[in-house]
Amino acid sequence: MDLLLINGPNLNLVGQREPALYGSQSLTDIEKELLETANELEVKLKFFQSNSEGEIIDCIHNCINSIDGILINAGAYTHTSIALRDALLGVEIPYVELHLSNIYSREEFRHKSFLADRAVGVICGFGSISYQLALKGMVAHINGSIKNQG
Ligand code: DQA
Repeated sequence: MDLLLINGPNLNLVGQREPALYGSQSLTDIEKELLETANELEVKLKFFQSNSEGEIIDCIHNCINSIDGILINAGAYTHTSIALRDALLGVEIPYVELHLSNIYSREEFRHKSFLADRAVGVICGFGSISYQLALKGMVAHINGSIKNQG
């Protein structure tokens, strides 16, 4: 199983950026921990981070025929980008939306997600553990142990 974790804008600054909201671990630390879990689960995991909407879309397009599932923290693009939604739906690869913070306990403009309704699942509010939960959820989904409704 080949999975890809995509992190969107400003997530390269995690660890320094608003630590009360996003924690003190760097993205590299989070990715390192996640790779250990991926190894335990015997799945392959790659990483991509970009602050540019177009680069993220190109990356999603490049997943065709090579990636079985996408884990995505799209940062603020979650709340703004129809183009990102269209890319994810266009490649027909299952995805999990995830966030470090609980977007529903924050400003109202963060309550809207252009990705959530078509995601396999959405995880938010657990800090770096959101990444672990997203990975485990996606692996279980692909292995067919979760029967999605709808
Ligand atoms: C975030 C939540 C978004 O609203 C915000 O724009 C981010 C980070 C999170 O992981 O909590 O950049 O995706």
